[in-house]
Amino acid sequence: MTQYLVDLTVKPEVKAFFDPATNTISYVVKDPASTSCAVIDSVMDIDYAAGRITYTHADAMIAYIREHGLQLEWIIETHVHADHLSAAPYIQQKLGGKIGIGENILVVQDTFGKIFNEGTEFQRDGSQFDKLFRDGDTYHIGKMQAQAIFTPGHTPACMVHVMGDAAFVGDTLFMPDGGSARADFPGGDAATLYDSIQKLLTLPDATRLFMCHDYGPNGRDIQWETTVGAEKEHNIHVGHGTTKEAFVKLRTERDATLAMPRLIIPSLQVNMRAGEIPTDKDGRPMLKVPVNGL
Ligand SMILES: [Fe+2]
Repeated sequence: MTQYLVDLTVKPEVKAFFDPATNTISYVVKDPASTSCAVIDSVMDIDYAAGRITYTHADAMIAYIREHGLQLEWIIETHVHADHLSAAPYIQQKLGGKIGIGENILVVQDTFGKIFNEGTEFQRDGSQFDKLFRDGDTYHIGKMQAQAIFTPGHTPACMVHVMGDAAFVGDTLFMPDGGSARADFPGGDAATLYDSIQKLLTLPDATRLFMCHDYGPNGRDIQWETTVGAEKEHNIHVGHGTTKEAFVKLRTERDATLAMPRLIIPSLQVNMRAGEIPTDKDGRPMLKVPVNGL
């Protein structure tokens, strides 16, 4: 069994950037002992109706990193997002850093390579990324140790990244009153998600958890930070020792009512390429819409 390394005495500075267009929260995480930092789950802005890409959200993160004199070492994707586009290559071009994702990206690339009928020029070996993390892999942001934990279920390539006393949970969990993320995308599985959440909840109760999404349930303000202890106690889908059977039933019934995310078609095509926009045979940026393909 993989040992999960959490040093609760290391408290990274976490700056959140909320994107109201997609309810995504991106983060700049700074090592407390140096000027090194990482970016988690960045967002590229898209006006899909117009086919227009802009970088307001990413530019705000870049400005923050520059203003604070930080060195960007890692650009982490917790998974292939289906509801927003990653700005990882744009940020890398401006600030450097390595783009990393879970090694099961190969499964996701194969699945969606078929759905989007990508040709042989679309490599399904994860080579678009600088680093493919395996379960338990450790790496450093300056002097701070970080670790990737494999947490499939929402997608087959999801990973939670632990940095000191902070864990970036991607779409495994939402805030306690939001429950959990859907598990009905290709390669998703509610029972697997339950197991991943249980694994995440074995981290110390005081571990800070940072969400990738929040939708402000019941009209409350947007929030993105909680703790393992609060999730165990209060999460409406998995708290109070909810059984796997009860979770799978709830998750499956709820997923059957959910529409596809508004940006799933452009998001998958871009994010499975580590944030690069695909091009047509003449090299022009171009997105496809597979009819009745999803
Ligand atoms: Fe997601």
